[in-house]
Amino acid sequence: MTAKIPLVDLGAQHRQIADEVNRGFASVFNDTSFILGAPVAEFEKAYAQFVGVKHCVGVANGTDALELAIRAAGIGPGDEVILPTNTFIATALAVVRAGATPVLVDSEPVHHQIDVAEVEGKITPKTRALLPVDLYGQVAPMEEIARLAAKHNLVVIEDAAQAQGATRHGTGAGAFGLAAGTSFYPGKNLGAYGDAGAVTTNSDAIAEKIRALRNYGSPIKYHHPERGFNSRLDTLQAVVLKAKLARLAGWNQARREAANRYRELLAGVPDVTLPSVDAGNEHVFHVYVIRVPRRDEVLKRLNAEGIGAGIHYPVPIHLQGAFESLGHRRGDFPVAEKAANEIMSLPMFGEITAEQQQRVATTLRQALGQ
Ligand SMILES: Cc1ncc(COP(=O)(O)O)c(C=O)c1O
Repeated sequence: MTAKIPLVDLGAQHRQIADEVNRGFASVFNDTSFILGAPVAEFEKAYAQFVGVKHCVGVANGTDALELAIRAAGIGPGDEVILPTNTFIATALAVVRAGATPVLVDSEPVHHQIDVAEVEGKITPKTRALLPVDLYGQVAPMEEIARLAAKHNLVVIEDAAQAQGATRHGTGAGAFGLAAGTSFYPGKNLGAYGDAGAVTTNSDAIAEKIRALRNYGSPIKYHHPERGFNSRLDTLQAVVLKAKLARLAGWNQARREAANRYRELLAGVPDVTLPSVDAGNEHVFHVYVIRVPRRDEVLKRLNAEGIGAGIHYPVPIHLQGAFESLGHRRGDFPVAEKAANEIMSLPMFGEITAEQQQRVATTLRQALGQ
C-alpha cells in the first residue's frame, strides 16, 4: 500500500530535537521545577526577541492568550470587538470569555483575511478593539487596521496563532497592536507537545497584568488584588518550545520552498487557485490553502488516496451554533461562505519531500479529471 502523506508530520520534527528535549525534560524532572521553572522565562525571553517585542508572557494555550490580552486591555462586558468570520472558533471564544461581544466582518477573496473595507461600517460607540487574525501564515493588513484604530480610538489585539515567524514590511507577527495572542498547539509552526500559548506585547503594563492574570491574579504570592486564572505555560512545554524556536526560521524557510514547489507542480491546472502572498508579507505557510471546484468530492478522493488534505475552515463563525445568538444567517458574509465551500488545505510541513508533493499534485489533477 502507498504510504500516507499527513497534513502535517510532527514526528519528522521531533526526530530532529529528540535528544535536546530529552535532556531538557531530565533536567526539569531532576530539579522538579514543574511550575514556572527556568525554561519558561528562558523561552519567553527568546520568543520576545524572535518576534521583536519587549515582552512575551507564556500561558496555557492560545485561546487563553487572546482572552487575557483582551481582559488586560480593560475590555469586557458591554464592549464590542471586531474580528473576521473566517477564522478558527477560538478567536471569537476569547472575546466572549472576556465578557465582550464579537462583531464579525466578511473576508476578502484573495488572501481570505479580514476585509478591511468592511471594518469601518461595523464600528459603533461600543467598539473597543479590532482583532485581526494572521490567517494561514501571513500577517493581516495591519497598516489599514492601525489607521482605523487610530481614527476611532480603538486598540488592536492581534491573533498571531497561525503565523509564528511571519513578517509584514519587516515587522514580526505578534508585534502589531497593543498585544498579540499566539498558540503553540502542536500543529502550529511553533508547536508544543500539548497545549501552550503566549501573549507578546511592547507594553510594560499589559505584560505585568498578564503575568498576574495567568497566575491567579497574584502579582505577589498569596496576594490577589484581582481574580485571575491558572493559565501558565508549562515548564515541560517551554523545554520543547525552546528547542523548536532555535530551528523555526529554517523550518519556515523549508515551508516556503515547499509552497514554491506546489506552485510549480500546480501551475496551469485549470480551476485551481493557489495561495497568494499579500504585498509586504513574508508568509510562513502554516497551512497551504487552495481553492478547487467540487471541493468535497476532490477532498474525499485525496483522503481516499492517503493524502491528509483538510479544510480551514468549513464553517465560518457566523454559521456556528455556538454563535447563533449573534443573530446571523446564511448569506450575511457571502465571500467567506463561498470560500468555505471551495477551500482545501494540502499537506504542508518543513520536511515534506518533493516526491510527496509530486504525488499530491498528481492525485489532485486526477481528482479534477485532468
Ligand atoms: C487563529 C487561531 N486563534 C486562536 C487559536 C487558539 O489556540 P489554542 O488552540 O492554543 O487555544 C488557534 C489555534 O488553535 C488559531 O488557529
